[in-house]
Amino acid sequence: MRLIRAKDYDELSAIAARVIGAQVTLKPNCVLGLATGSSPEGTYKELIAAYNRGELDFSQVRTVNLDEYVGLEPTHDQSYAYFMRDRFFDHVNIDLKNTNVPDGMNPDPAAECARYDALIQSMGGIDLQLLGIGPNGHIGFNEPGDTFSLGTQQIKLTQSTLEANKRFFASIDDVPTHARTMGIRDIMQARRILLVASGENKAQAVKGLLTGAISPQMPCTILQYHPDCIVVADEAALSAL
Ligand code: F6R
Repeated sequence: MRLIRAKDYDELSAIAARVIGAQVTLKPNCVLGLATGSSPEGTYKELIAAYNRGELDFSQVRTVNLDEYVGLEPTHDQSYAYFMRDRFFDHVNIDLKNTNVPDGMNPDPAAECARYDALIQSMGGIDLQLLGIGPNGHIGFNEPGDTFSLGTQQIKLTQSTLEANKRFFASIDDVPTHARTMGIRDIMQARRILLVASGENKAQAVKGLLTGAISPQMPCTILQYHPDCIVVADEAALSAL
């Protein structure tokens, strides 16, 4: 695991965008695994800025997102499909046909999860997976549990994740209770991982990530076994170390 220390969120975002930009430059038709949430928003802004400066070309890039809420249409403004278009895809020259988010509306969860795993395989796997981290150590929506998950699956969000995500909804009762997420095996099979962590509320999770015993109770700890995992964290996120 390689740790890059950033002063603050802005520096973290600039560093993460440079890592992704290098990937796109080296392999223009790369497969990027993408995340939503507050952590990567600044990274997407930096990538858009680099695109506007003429430094990056996304025309051949293919993407697979980590997760999606169950029951939200892609047009719902809190769906992750909407987030990706709003914060990134609509601002660069990516072909929307090359972008993928799990379908939260497919009435058959098992079929949808199998479809998503087969899709990732058919793309040749993920070159670079961008991750945030939950305050409880989740990656994607792989919540703390008794085992590490394998492929894409439908999961019930924990109370702490519902609490963390209610800021985006009118009330906690409006936060979807289930999501579909790539599994730990899918994430671990990415050839490179880039995890971004910002803020004091991530400090315990980041401490676990970097120094904790590997345990499904803190899902991020499995990344210690990944051969090419880069962690970019700001001072606040590193404050428990
Ligand atoms: C989002 C995702 C989640 C978030 C995590 C942190 O696609 O998979 O694991 O990365 O919940 O969320 P933020 O960045 O909003 O603190």
